[in-house]
Amino acid sequence: MHSLIPLSLFLSVVHAIELPFHVRTGSSVPSSRLGRREVPILNNGNAAYIANVSLAGTSVSVILDTGSSDLWVKFPGTPPTTTDTGKSMSLNYAVGSATGSIRTAKLEFDGYTVENQAFLQVSDSSSFSTDSAFDGLIGLGPNDGSAIHDKLGSSGSSMLNRIFSQNTSTSNYISFLLDRKNDPSHSFTGTFTISQPAKGFENITSQPKLNVETVHKLLEDQQHWQAMTDKDNSVIGPDGTVLKIKTIVPKAPKGQLVAVFDSGFTFSQVPRDMSDMIYGRVQGAVYDSDNEWWTVPCGQMINLTFNFGGVAFPMHPLDVVDDNFKILDKNGNHVCIGAFQPITSAFSLFGNFDMIMGMTFLRNAYTLMDFGDWVDGSDKDRNDPFIQLLPLTDPATAKAAFVSARLNGQDTTGSSQYALLPADQQQHSPVSAEEKKKKYEEMVLSRWPYIVTGVLVGLALLIGFIVWRCCCRRKQKSAKKNKGFFEQKSQTYLPLQVQGGAPQTPQQQHQQQPQYGYDHDGGQPHQQQYGYGGGQPHQQQGYGGYAS
Ligand SMILES: *[C@@H]1O[C@H](CO)[C@@H](O)[C@H](O)[C@H]1NC(C)=O
Ligand SMILES: *[C@@H]1O[C@H](CO)[C@@H](O)[C@H](O)[C@H]1NC(C)=O
Ligand SMILES: *[C@@H]1O[C@H](CO)[C@@H](O)[C@H](O)[C@H]1NC(C)=O
Ligand SMILES: *[C@@H]1O[C@H](CO)[C@@H](O)[C@H](O)[C@H]1NC(C)=O
Repeated sequence: MHSLIPLSLFLSVVHAIELPFHVRTGSSVPSSRLGRREVPILNNGNAAYIANVSLAGTSVSVILDTGSSDLWVKFPGTPPTTTDTGKSMSLNYAVGSATGSIRTAKLEFDGYTVENQAFLQVSDSSSFSTDSAFDGLIGLGPNDGSAIHDKLGSSGSSMLNRIFSQNTSTSNYISFLLDRKNDPSHSFTGTFTISQPAKGFENITSQPKLNVETVHKLLEDQQHWQAMTDKDNSVIGPDGTVLKIKTIVPKAPKGQLVAVFDSGFTFSQVPRDMSDMIYGRVQGAVYDSDNEWWTVPCGQMINLTFNFGGVAFPMHPLDVVDDNFKILDKNGNHVCIGAFQPITSAFSLFGNFDMIMGMTFLRNAYTLMDFGDWVDGSDKDRNDPFIQLLPLTDPATAKAAFVSARLNGQDTTGSSQYALLPADQQQHSPVSAEEKKKKYEEMVLSRWPYIVTGVLVGLALLIGFIVWRCCCRRKQKSAKKNKGFFEQKSQTYLPLQVQGGAPQTPQQQHQQQPQYGYDHDGGQPHQQQYGYGGGQPHQQQGYGGYAS
């Protein structure tokens, strides 16, 4: 199955080319009396961001994934002694799956200690990678999205939930700074923090707070770190104008898009029209239908800016046109990848979001994610979760870096070969039959809570009507027998009160509708039918995020 492109690319390429990965040290500053510090993040070829966690006394390197909520590990060498819960399960991601037994062990991370942390011990992770760059993956999403928590209850809570509920007087947030390799202008190293900002980036706490867009109650295990773009100003395209894209999220206001922030995706996943608008006007752009991405000349500098909370986030041109994977076109020429690729396998059939901001976006924004009342067992912070983003890319500096890295230091960005084609000559990428079908399904599925509500209201009215007819007939009959004309008449004005089981108002129906859905469908109405797979829609959505 062709599912997640970035990952399959990552997997094959990591193997093929020796991706340089060494930790750049220097950013791990002891910062508090408790011995807490920033956790260095290892950048594996701009394709995965990894940190060390100690589990049962053994150091394991795990991919940091804000798009899922579980921890799985394949111990290098002989596994240390851990406690078996007697349960096993499978976590499926957009690319790859991890199967094993759920165990518990002492976990240490960033100076925090968690006793009996539940995790999945995997014996075979070959569907992920045969590379030894990492031993597992840690999900940094909401606890409600954890499949292990789902299975074990509170003893299966995610690492962050356990850390945050340890000390209720600290803020429930994480932050991470992802560095960029092969960028001559780059000045910091990747770092991860809990409950404190990264040194030198304290300003993030005064950035606008982006509300986390919540998904429908029935789909809450599909909740991600997601927020809305600015109204009528979501994305500024290569020619400096706003890209006009319609949202697929039924409750999103017109002119705004819902974006998921997911560090598990190497490439950002955007609506197909948006990807076409970004790359389709580049001379020499070719759409690669096998990989579902655009390829463009590596010297093409493309301006692209996303807007959140009234703040502009310019993308580094080295991230917009990606040269991390040394791709060749059909003629054997070196080309670069349009790293804001059309969303295909990760497309949200339930209309929960429009796009996924992966590493190509996240390198351009220092990111803070506050869990607020997502933390189970923390009484103090009962606020809604939010996201704060601090722009990291200065367009002028970035341009200079691009010229140096891609154009041999000669600023030819203004030359005719790099001029954008007129808008009416923009190329459009082909839409597969499967994708058309998905879009159609989304139209229906994303509205199903409303459809179910409608059907229920209709049903209630129908039943009400039948009951009313029966009662009324009986009443009328008895009335005709026993009462006078005036009393009969007055009764006809009170049919619903007389019946006892009065039909509910539409509002009551609406409130009860989720319950009905659960009863009727055994808790997870959508999953089996629509391929979120194996009965646990959220766990599929981890690394890279979303099941096909
Ligand atoms: C993880 O730990 C190993 C050895 O314990 C070390 O060599 C490596 O640099 C560490 N990686 C990170 C990202 O800290
Ligand atoms: C909880 O966190 C606060 C603030 O960081 C700290 O002062 C306090 O000592 C912590 N309490 C425990 C029990 O760790
Ligand atoms: C941090 O924010 C303050 C106030 O908004 C501003 O004056 C200062 O320049 C900012 N510093 C950085 C490094 O952005
Ligand atoms: C792209 O951004 C650079 C740097 O800000 C600027 O010099 C250039 O004019 C922009 N190009 C377009 C087509 O807007």
